[in-house]
Amino acid sequence: MNTTLTIDITKTSSSKLAQTNFDDLKFGQTISDHMFIADYENGEWGNFRIEPYAPLQLNPANATLHYGQSVFEGMKAYKNDAGETLLFRADANQKRLNESAKRMCIPELPENIFMEGLLQLLKIDSAWIPNRPGYSLYIRPFIFATDDYLGIRPSEKYKFMIFTCPVGHYYSKPVSVKVESKYTRAAEGGTGYAKAAGNYAGSLYPALLAQKEGYDQLLWTDGKSHQHIEESGTMNVMFIINDTLITAPTTTGTILKGITRDSVLTLAREMGVKVEERFLRVAELEDALKSHTLKEAFGTGTAATIAHISKIHISGNDYELPQKDETAFSNRVLKRLDDIKYGKIEDSHNWIIKL
Ligand code: COI
Repeated sequence: MNTTLTIDITKTSSSKLAQTNFDDLKFGQTISDHMFIADYENGEWGNFRIEPYAPLQLNPANATLHYGQSVFEGMKAYKNDAGETLLFRADANQKRLNESAKRMCIPELPENIFMEGLLQLLKIDSAWIPNRPGYSLYIRPFIFATDDYLGIRPSEKYKFMIFTCPVGHYYSKPVSVKVESKYTRAAEGGTGYAKAAGNYAGSLYPALLAQKEGYDQLLWTDGKSHQHIEESGTMNVMFIINDTLITAPTTTGTILKGITRDSVLTLAREMGVKVEERFLRVAELEDALKSHTLKEAFGTGTAATIAHISKIHISGNDYELPQKDETAFSNRVLKRLDDIKYGKIEDSHNWIIKL
């Protein structure tokens, strides 16, 4: 890619690479050496720079701290056997960042700033991308308001930043989930489709209550009636009933347009699986659990990729799901996705940028 953006680059004089234990990577704890930063001021983005990863100085009146005007993305880069960097579907993340930004009154970030900042950062921190199966570099782009002003209105100044973390598996085992029948993640007309910071803050308390009862995550239901399933924790969720894959549609504004969700649906259709994008009623889910027609349930997301669900709690009853072997759809599609991401099979969808 030809660079048209002028990026000031300051490299670290004390890399953390040598002290990093790549055998023990807990999600989001190990951060690579550098970060990309851009500032929005006077109606335009500028001051593009890559600097050593370091704390920020914030005024206590910073608008994001009080009103949460902030959006983020999550994506991953991989190394193939030849040691080349493969970046997965970054164009989709760039578009979704701007969809989230629009909902939160944050100015659009031009594509070239996102892509050129990202590609430069990945080149500089290329040695941080793990080159072992199941491992990757998690990339966290985000934008937040930087006005120091306590009045409530859209900020006039923002920062766009990207930093990265080498990561292994998000979940070490299948997850147990509880169908939530009181709290709501998203309401129609709200911000559920946006990757807005506040959506995640609002989900913490109900999730904590479920964890106290012994469940890993929630299965979120709709805000009006709690009668149908929307998402699972911070992931989209999919069910296979008989031979049909069912997942919530993204038309109500309450569901995140997951890029892993879209990738799995694309591959499922190619693999000849019948797909229904429709809401699954809780009663229908319970019937399928009772009659053992629910074959598989799993979350999809960038961090977890595919998170198998091993137990579902519905109003007082626990239902166990059988363990999945390599013939299960969720495992076959995970393998196919990984084969594309690690460059083992042809990228016929143009999902990969090779650096
Ligand atoms: C992702 O899967 O990228 C997410 O945003 C989940 C994150 C909250 C850990």
